[in-house]
Amino acid sequence: MLKEHSVGILATGRYLPERVLTNADLEKMVDTSDEWIVTRTGIKERRIARDDQPSSEMAVAAARNALEKAGLTGEDLDLIIIATVTPDMFFPSTACIVQEQLGAKKAAAFDLSAACSGFLYGASVATQFIKSGVYRYALVVGVENLSKITNYEDRSTCVLFGDGAGAAILGPVEDGKGFLSFDLGADGTGAESLKLGAGGSRIPPSKIQPGSPDNYLYMSGNEVFKFAVRVMNTATDTVLDRAGLTKDDIDFLVPHQANFRIIDSAMRRLGLSEDKVVVNLDRYGNMSSASIPVALDEAVSEGRIKEGDTLVLVGFGGGLTWAASAMKWSSVEKGQE
Ligand code: ACO
Repeated sequence: MLKEHSVGILATGRYLPERVLTNADLEKMVDTSDEWIVTRTGIKERRIARDDQPSSEMAVAAARNALEKAGLTGEDLDLIIIATVTPDMFFPSTACIVQEQLGAKKAAAFDLSAACSGFLYGASVATQFIKSGVYRYALVVGVENLSKITNYEDRSTCVLFGDGAGAAILGPVEDGKGFLSFDLGADGTGAESLKLGAGGSRIPPSKIQPGSPDNYLYMSGNEVFKFAVRVMNTATDTVLDRAGLTKDDIDFLVPHQANFRIIDSAMRRLGLSEDKVVVNLDRYGNMSSASIPVALDEAVSEGRIKEGDTLVLVGFGGGLTWAASAMKWSSVEKGQE
């Protein structure tokens, strides 16, 4: 019988591309306005990867940042999970490319597709391996290169998304700390409301029509909005309940960064003040699977989130999927930038 460990995030890291695309830039590209974007979403600017920059490059940069803070190297890793809907290519997995670049010779490596819920899906999978004693250290990265699948002539989507990567090193932590509970879910009846049509087996690369809408991310914003508000609430309640906590125990809510109105509705229902909610979508937009780990890394490195704090992380997105976790923060890094 293997000994069960408490599992937590030992350190986090992030990478954001240098190029900034502001609302003023978008005003010159499509029929939109800074006022519309800010009032409907809360987004002011987002980062855009270089044309020749693959997701693996961003993932490796975020991973190195996290490994350094954890005092580990690639060789210490037993498992690499890359959560992304914008991998370098269909295969090999981006995780294998990252594994090679980190010199993580003994690590098993695979990609995970759960859109904006991907980081928490990945953290949940890695936790099971560490908890059971099969592995000791896992790297989970949320990385997205959404600019590569965004139509910059479609104002209803191009104002929303940005590129970036957030990484976490998971490992054993003191008993009673780290991840206390998870809730993962999916509702495939909403599969058509958020998708990239081309590039898979339905429309294989050899059949792609240049300029087709299938080549770009499609989203039915209203449907996803209603789903998001609902599951943010139910998933948060579920992880609190499973951890034996109530909303009054929450020190920080780290939500997926899709739209400030969605975050605001969760914040009000939970009775949380703004200083207890980690928000960065004004600077980065929606980075899908990278949003939560980047927000977490910023809040930890700024010294906002501290040892022993109770967190709820919650995300939702394509699939449709959702994922949440309640945590008691315990990391090896001391934070502060
Ligand atoms: N600038 C100006 N006007 C615009 C823009 C824009 N950028 N985009 C849309 N509009 C117009 C529409 O054309 C529409 O005009 P009409 O009334 O004349 O037809 C009007 O604004 C209202 O459009 P709605 O789509 O109803 O606007 P809404 O208030 O719903 O906001 C939004 C749209 C921001 C997309 C919102 O629905 C949303 O945030 N949805 C959730 C998205 C989300 O959470 N995604 C998460 C997952 S992402 C992933 O998994 C990769």
